[in-house]
Amino acid sequence: MKKIALDLKGSFVTHEELQNMKPQIMEAQKTLLNGSGISSDMIGWVDYMNNYDEVEYEEIKASASYIINNSDAIILLGIGGSYLGARASIEAIRGDFHNELCKPQVYYAGQNLSGAYLKNLLEVVKTKKVCIIVVSKSGTTLETALVFRIIRDMMDEKYKEQSKNRIFVVTDEKKGALKSLSELYGYKAFKIPDNIGGRYSVITPVGLLPMAAAGLDTDKFIEGLRDASNEYQTTDFENNICCLYAAARNILNKKGKEVEILVGYEPSIISIAEWWKQLFGESEGKNEQGIFPASLNFTTDLHSMGQFVQEGKKIIFETTIVTEQPKGDIVVPADSNDFDKLNYLSGRTFNDINDKAFEGTFMAHNEGKVPGIVIKVPEMNEFYLGKLFYFFMMTCAISGYTNNIDPFTQPGVENYKKNMFRLLGK
Ligand code: PA5
Repeated sequence: MKKIALDLKGSFVTHEELQNMKPQIMEAQKTLLNGSGISSDMIGWVDYMNNYDEVEYEEIKASASYIINNSDAIILLGIGGSYLGARASIEAIRGDFHNELCKPQVYYAGQNLSGAYLKNLLEVVKTKKVCIIVVSKSGTTLETALVFRIIRDMMDEKYKEQSKNRIFVVTDEKKGALKSLSELYGYKAFKIPDNIGGRYSVITPVGLLPMAAAGLDTDKFIEGLRDASNEYQTTDFENNICCLYAAARNILNKKGKEVEILVGYEPSIISIAEWWKQLFGESEGKNEQGIFPASLNFTTDLHSMGQFVQEGKKIIFETTIVTEQPKGDIVVPADSNDFDKLNYLSGRTFNDINDKAFEGTFMAHNEGKVPGIVIKVPEMNEFYLGKLFYFFMMTCAISGYTNNIDPFTQPGVENYKKNMFRLLGK
């Protein structure tokens, strides 16, 4: 079985620098794995895949079958860690145009406060058979809770007393508004473990239920997570890509690289970058420290942001996710006129040309003094997606501990809420 590979050749990080960083990284890994670090009550994700509730997992699969058999469309309600991972998985695995090509369709709500978005969504699903998945650990997140009021009304109007059979909840096991609501109305509820925070929760029912309901193979996903937990808990620094990636990022940051852009050449993986941004942004961005996580979609964004990366302020390093076997391909045909002078490409495939675009870009950015890290994923399937999520989460936690930052809290997120609630007259 091929592994996810990390290539630091273009990173401008030397072997010596890695060796110098090694003791700090290994200490951070030890602190994480033996549970002696700050917020160690939030490291349930490290071994979740080896001790999850199997009965609940079977119920997730049963609910997913019900959803698949009884709906044209799912609306997934949630925000931040309660939605980004599921969206990333569904889009990466089902691929581009998945809502046109796959059943059931998947729509998202409760991740913004736009009245126009909500109104349009209600219009889109008006004539469809719908099931709802609501995810909120606290149950009180404004966006999700407020939108759930509207969606619940829509469902009650549409399905009357059958409505409750079409609403599925993922929330705290014992407490919170959503838990109380599900008990009152009889919604099927799944639990978010206490010891796993939002941005590390894609591996729990938070990710598993929407993934299964969208037809993804969650057994393979869990298999990938298990494989990752074996491979990435090794204390062999040179053979642990989480430790190496954490070390390289920290070395680059110390050399003045303040921004990491996660780049992909497959549009279907854009949402993985959205999930990744939350993971690293919320975990590392505190105490006036952290690397600002950004993302670009190449080659599209080479025609907009490429200029800055190439010649702008030298604060960026670039991490590219390369999918070694994209899911489809097309051969460029010959054209008898050749007006566009592209016949030199005829007979070659788009994926081959895309690969060359990556190689050319990587070289150019390197020449422009932009360090490049490459993460090679053999295939974007459920197995490797599980590994990839775990790889990033492990790297992130190690990276945080290395810098004496608590990678499991997000105190700064509360400030905007305080102002907003005051302005709303709460
Ligand atoms: O990482 C986090 O904790 C946040 O992004 C939360 O997941 C997000 O705010 C949603 O919270 P909740 O699940 O309580 O609705």
